[in-house]
Amino acid sequence: MVNQRLYPFWGSLTEALRSGQPQNEAKTGGSFFEELYQNPERLRLFLSSMTGLSMTSAQAVTQKFWWSDFQTFIDIGTAQGALPVQVALSHPHLSGGGLDLPSVAPMFTEYVASFELSQRLHFYPSDFFQEPLPSADVLVMGHILHDWNLEEKRMLVSKAYEALPQGAL
Ligand SMILES: C[S@@+](CC[C@H](N)C(=O)[O-])C[C@H]1O[C@@H](n2cnc3c(N)ncnc32)[C@H](O)[C@@H]1O
Repeated sequence: MVNQRLYPFWGSLTEALRSGQPQNEAKTGGSFFEELYQNPERLRLFLSSMTGLSMTSAQAVTQKFWWSDFQTFIDIGTAQGALPVQVALSHPHLSGGGLDLPSVAPMFTEYVASFELSQRLHFYPSDFFQEPLPSADVLVMGHILHDWNLEEKRMLVSKAYEALPQGAL
């Protein structure tokens, strides 16, 4: 992903500095993710690259967070499901899964099945701007808020707050 997708954006560094505008897929005016996901190869490349990029932090969250206090969790904007898989592998008492746009479902399902975790981890197809978030003891957002403006960030955090049961995180 760094070679094929991210590196070419650096060619527009001057334009980014002058305009203050993003130089990624959002440059064409469409939605970043709609643009990216129109092409199945780019979708696969992006999702599997997110797994590589997020593995170290997923393992840190798996080890350092006090999961024993909770039973269920959902990773919001999960991509391939790197975080839920790491958490579920180390904490057999937990169940839950990952929420993402419907087109992500096949890659999440395939990845989770490769770890034999399909009984405990489910995919929640949803657009988090259009629908309320599902409820669980713990909701995780990894590399999500930075993609959106302040108003959108506030909306996502307040949706998470509304979805959480009392005493949840
Ligand atoms: C930068 S990736 C982060 C993936 C993963 N959480 C991680 O840290 O590796 C952002 C994720 O948000 C998902 N996403 C973007 N817009 C969404 C929407 N409107 N509803 C649900 N998921 C969305 C994308 O499909 C993508 O998987």
